[in-house]
Amino acid sequence: MPFLPDYPIETERLRLRPFTRGDVDAVFAYRRREDVARFLFDEPMTRESCAEAVQARVRQIGFDKEGDKIFLAIERLDGLAMIGEVSLILRSVEARQGELGYIVHPEYHGFGYATEAGRAVLAMGFEGAGMHRIYARCDARNLASAGVMERLGMRREAHFREHMLVKGAWDEELIYAMLEQEWRASPDT
Ligand SMILES: CC(C)(COP(=O)(O)OP(=O)(O)OC[C@H]1O[C@@H](n2cnc3c(N)ncnc32)[C@H](O)[C@@H]1OP(=O)(O)O)[C@@H](O)C(=O)NCCC(=O)NCCS
Repeated sequence: MPFLPDYPIETERLRLRPFTRGDVDAVFAYRRREDVARFLFDEPMTRESCAEAVQARVRQIGFDKEGDKIFLAIERLDGLAMIGEVSLILRSVEARQGELGYIVHPEYHGFGYATEAGRAVLAMGFEGAGMHRIYARCDARNLASAGVMERLGMRREAHFREHMLVKGAWDEELIYAMLEQEWRASPDT
């Protein structure tokens, strides 16, 4: 399913656009922080690893084959500050499955930005890429992330306990998902 959306994608308050090489400092500003990395698979990043990640993300803008990722920078429409990132990964071509992800700089938490950006990514996945199911997962202690998924209208499908080791410790993971027909029936569409 080759898929290349028209960028930028605008919502009421946000612009989602491909990464550029100039985004390294903005990404480092949040990915260097312990509080941001706490529930991510990655440790806090160095500036060098941010530069490598941004370099890869510049090209991660569409789907061609299974495993391809779309990473988009989140900017506020007023002021154009880059405040975080959203992602959609093509997990299965045959079953049209995708995985949603998001990170927002802590200075901008609590304004509904992750939910607004996540909703635009669900629209892109269901209406643009023709996905059948989009899921997202988080550490069970990550209440902010579970709140985003619930506000998006995703259903809690699973609560795994100790099904893998993350950073050397047993995990506890929540899975939320939405089906294409649930998206079409949701009040946001
Ligand atoms: C998870 C994360 C992205 C949530 O970011 P966020 O932008 O604060 O989340 P939301 O967009 O849902 O905003 C929710 C808050 O904004 C408030 N809000 C204000 N205006 C709002 C609006 N217009 N619409 C929705 N919520 C709004 C909500 O009431 C809610 O407040 P609460 O947390 O006190 O209940 C953020 O905590 C984060 O980046 N964490 C670190 C990285 C991470 O863990 N990512 C997820 C990995 S699974």
